[in-house]
Amino acid sequence: MENLSNTPAVQQPPLIHRKDYKPYPWLIPQTRLEFELGLERTLIRSRLTVERNPAAEPSQTMRLNGDGLAARSVTVDGTLSDDWQMNGSDLVLSLSGDAHSLEIVTEIDPSQNTQLMGLYASGGMLCTQCEAEGFRRITFFPDRPDVLSVYTVRMSAPKDAFPVLLCNGNPAAQGEDAQAGTHWAEWHDPWPKPSYLFALVAGDLVAKSGDFLTMSGKQVACNIWVRQEDLGRTDHALRSLHNSMRWDEDVFGREYDLQVYNIVAVSDFNMGAMENKGLNVFNTKYVLADVETATDADFDAVEGVIAHEYFHNWSGNRVTCRDWFQLSLKEGFTVLRDQLFSQDMHSESVKRIEDVRILRSAQFPEDSGPLAHPIRPDSFREISNFYTATVYNKGAEVIRMMRSLCGVEAFRKGTDLYFERHDGEAATCEDFICAIEDGAGLDLEQFRLWYAQAGTPKVTARLHTADGRAKLHLTQSVPDTPGQEDKSPMPIPLRVALHDQTSGNLGEEQLIVLNEAEASFDLGAHSDETPASPALSINRGFTAPVRIERQADTAQLAFLAAHDDDPFARYEAMQELLVDHLLTRASGPPDASDKEIAQAFGRIIADEALDDLMRGELMALPGVTFLMDQLEAADPLALHNAREALKAQLGKQWQGELAAMHQRASAIAFAHDAPAKGARTVKTAALTFLAASDPQLAAQMAAQQYDTADNMTDRQGALMVLCGLETDARAAKLDDFYQRFLGNALVIDKWFSLQAMSLHPEAIAHVKALAQHPDFTLSNPNRARALYMAFAANPAAFHAASGEGYRMLADFLLALDPINAQTAARFVPALGRWRKMEPARAKLMRAELERIASADGLSRDTAEQVTRSLD
Ligand code: TRP
Ligand code: ZN
Repeated sequence: MENLSNTPAVQQPPLIHRKDYKPYPWLIPQTRLEFELGLERTLIRSRLTVERNPAAEPSQTMRLNGDGLAARSVTVDGTLSDDWQMNGSDLVLSLSGDAHSLEIVTEIDPSQNTQLMGLYASGGMLCTQCEAEGFRRITFFPDRPDVLSVYTVRMSAPKDAFPVLLCNGNPAAQGEDAQAGTHWAEWHDPWPKPSYLFALVAGDLVAKSGDFLTMSGKQVACNIWVRQEDLGRTDHALRSLHNSMRWDEDVFGREYDLQVYNIVAVSDFNMGAMENKGLNVFNTKYVLADVETATDADFDAVEGVIAHEYFHNWSGNRVTCRDWFQLSLKEGFTVLRDQLFSQDMHSESVKRIEDVRILRSAQFPEDSGPLAHPIRPDSFREISNFYTATVYNKGAEVIRMMRSLCGVEAFRKGTDLYFERHDGEAATCEDFICAIEDGAGLDLEQFRLWYAQAGTPKVTARLHTADGRAKLHLTQSVPDTPGQEDKSPMPIPLRVALHDQTSGNLGEEQLIVLNEAEASFDLGAHSDETPASPALSINRGFTAPVRIERQADTAQLAFLAAHDDDPFARYEAMQELLVDHLLTRASGPPDASDKEIAQAFGRIIADEALDDLMRGELMALPGVTFLMDQLEAADPLALHNAREALKAQLGKQWQGELAAMHQRASAIAFAHDAPAKGARTVKTAALTFLAASDPQLAAQMAAQQYDTADNMTDRQGALMVLCGLETDARAAKLDDFYQRFLGNALVIDKWFSLQAMSLHPEAIAHVKALAQHPDFTLSNPNRARALYMAFAANPAAFHAASGEGYRMLADFLLALDPINAQTAARFVPALGRWRKMEPARAKLMRAELERIASADGLSRDTAEQVTRSLD
């Protein structure tokens, strides 16, 4: 029978449902693992003590997950057993008693592990990644987060190749066999943990070390492990770790609980970093930083990720997740914790603006596309696909709303209760909500909808004045998302204020909560004699992750952009002015608002009360992804062109001021503080506007900035601008950059990315050539992403009307899928938003998705994402 639908049939892995959760029938109080380590052959002897779980339905069998494993032997209670079978890739054994001891031997080849899940080789060392389901690629085990066990691990390895042997917990013993040239180390982790937190590292590494004294006076040895040649770039990571440890004591009352804290930097890594108990494994990108090779943004990212993984020690490890549907329990909460930490370490308002920008460019599109899901999903096929901006970033926003509703002090009472109640347990999102309700004294009955309903709520705001009072009328609607229709109103907390445009008086802020489909709020007295209507400042600080449609006129927005006392609201007003203008400009002649925008822009450059970091935020134009997300049938090229045209217009009108700003900022010497960081931000910002209005002048200024740079922020900023210009300096500086940083993988990644993101008309051809460059490889995720994630974010090149960009991405994805499925699947969303594109591009994108779907042997990861994107 012919397949009548035009969607090709993809072999789909089974759907797993949250409602089907059942506790595991067995407990595993103790796990002892013995590793004989080798790059090509590693032998694993796993000894488990097992007992019946009184809280579960009794079972005569025990299912141990495996993935690509064969058991060398299975021993039950000391006797070699053949009372077991393979069921798919799992091992199922018969167990009749109440308690047993098991021993299972497996053997694996880490050098062949290109998926980078389980035990794998990276640059001559061995390391592990077990979250979410990688442990089953090492040994047979109930690989689920609600089976907690106390681990003791013995590793032995050739001493010369693997002089350092690390594992979770505390070091217990070590020794060597001089004759065999091997040595061994035993580690014991006293804290019961799920298998996804297991980690092991063996390699030729050196450490940057520094002790930390905890609040109760315990000494912790902190080590940042790297290759010898990277040791000079570890100071910032260690400082960030110490700052995180202190902050979690001060702000959340959380103390560290082992004698050592190890962080290992690995070049081949699927994600950012991993919070394994006492032994974090990090992508080098989030460890290594020095002024020469890392930008200010890189420094902040290192600090943020170090903090994030450290904070997981409590939110994730001491209290873990019952099942993977609860992922946001640890991720949403931990993202909030790392955001609050970074707010405290630097500028609170600038950090808030950055986090909202990430949410709106990554999570809003997800929430309005085919992959939309609630922060606590109801079903999945491949859990790796649910490490999303929704679970992480919207998850953080949802908990931030709870904090706004009850206040900081009550929230702390709630989190204290949560940690106290659930320490040592595998908990659920519902447990978290209950603890906040009980501890903070909040009623979150209706608020629970934020966990269940996907989609970004839309709020309309209309201001009326009647009888001398200002009334705010609000409505809300939650859009339909795949599998979810007719949603209920959710509680939406909004900080609002009314500013008087005529007098310039700024109104007082109040917190209102919209919890019905529509409601009116009395915002206080308002004199009818006031000629201009008051300017509504709403969702100040971005209290709720919603879209607001407030029907403000340009004059009101310009007033707010110039005067609002809430920095986020000020930024937001400027963005709204820009978005409205750019959307109009992309579909026809520009409206008159460009005059207002130009004036506001000039004021921002000149405003002496602004610090440069905030100035940089206010000058930033909304990105094309965010603009596309506002439309039902987006033409990315039209949006891009409108954006470039506005840039050129602003650059032309304020050329003198921008050049002067660049000069002023260039006189500020390098430092890590906010004024110097701000200076670097506005310096490159000035160049980007000038590049659009006067390419020759900009090329000359950028080349000079490049040549005189004493830090990566200035150098990369200058090179980025040059990359977009047709100037001789382009090739010269790109070449200089490449030669200068040859051998430094993270900087060569930048070299790839800058070219793939560039505004240059030949960007597609450049990417094609770069894919053939000897330094390009599919087997290193950082390198693959450096080229193709950057390319997918290049509106003009990726969305070329010919469809060539889409084809290139699909070809790449198909080539990567068999090598690293998890990383490959993360490129599907770039093609997945076809429904929101103008018809010609929609068709081209869909065709590429169908081509991927019909490929043989597609991974479970990619199959799920492609099918969801086509449905
Ligand atoms: N738990 C990690 C974090 O949030 C995420 C992570 C790291 C991960 N590596 C992974 C998730 C591999 C899935 C697969 O910090
Ligand atoms: Zn995390």
